[in-house]
Amino acid sequence: YSKQWEGCMEIAVQTARTAGQVIREAFKHEKEVSTKSSPVDLVTETDRLVEDLIISSLREKYPSHRFIGEESSAAGEKCLLTDSPTWIIDPIDGTCNFIHSFPMVAVSIGFAVNKELEFGVIYHCLDKNLYTARKGHGAFCNGIQLQVSKETDMSKALILTEIGAKRDPATLKIFSGNMERLLKAQVHGIRVIGSATLALCQVASGAADAYYQFGLHCWDIAAAAVIIREAGGNVIDTSGGPLDLMSRRIVAAGTVEMAHYIAQEIQTITYERDDHN
Ligand code: IPD
Repeated sequence: YSKQWEGCMEIAVQTARTAGQVIREAFKHEKEVSTKSSPVDLVTETDRLVEDLIISSLREKYPSHRFIGEESSAAGEKCLLTDSPTWIIDPIDGTCNFIHSFPMVAVSIGFAVNKELEFGVIYHCLDKNLYTARKGHGAFCNGIQLQVSKETDMSKALILTEIGAKRDPATLKIFSGNMERLLKAQVHGIRVIGSATLALCQVASGAADAYYQFGLHCWDIAAAAVIIREAGGNVIDTSGGPLDLMSRRIVAAGTVEMAHYIAQEIQTITYERDDHN
């Protein structure tokens, strides 16, 4: 049965590479920027073009499947996960990086059936690193198997996070308070690279020990969650409970201990759910 999804994953890889090529070309040129939910929630014509390209080519092959995409959702399409096979797509993760020509930009394609994530493909458009994982079959970067870090000690940890689109004083206070708490635990460092999916791939690779964020979306999480799990890692909700794809928040870590330590330390920044009506 799951053989069926293997074919879909091969198509996802081809599609991500094609999209990556378009993004790589556009990266060199001037970008036309507009804003979405806030002055720092950015979109370019390339985000929309690449999402159309991905969805139309997948829809042609899989007309009965459903699609959740960052830009289709921004345009008002419902972001609902049903039991149907569903592709969850971020055409450009790291749009702000893309706009500034900061070379951390990825295409992310996740796939869920019966609300379970089956596979994930993340393509770093500039480095051409391809991260892939299918449930039960391991995680890979360019075909080399990935393994998360085994670190449990916070005072030896390299942590990644991202900022999110809310910049009101109350949010910023919680955001910096969370960082402060981890810095007080004497973590080695905290990094913000501007792409949630590529940050999560660093956790899958063992280059970072953990990642947490409030305000990301299901299309930032879907593919990466499979990749981290298949690399032996943990992906949980910031409450410490199971991951909720639509909840706009995540803690990911190589070890259970580190995931739960971070979940306990950080305070919640509330964002509207992706599947709000
Ligand atoms: C965003 C980036 C950013 C993170 C946001 C994401 P986008 O994705 O990953 O680093 O802080 O929460 O939504 O808008 O570039 O696809």
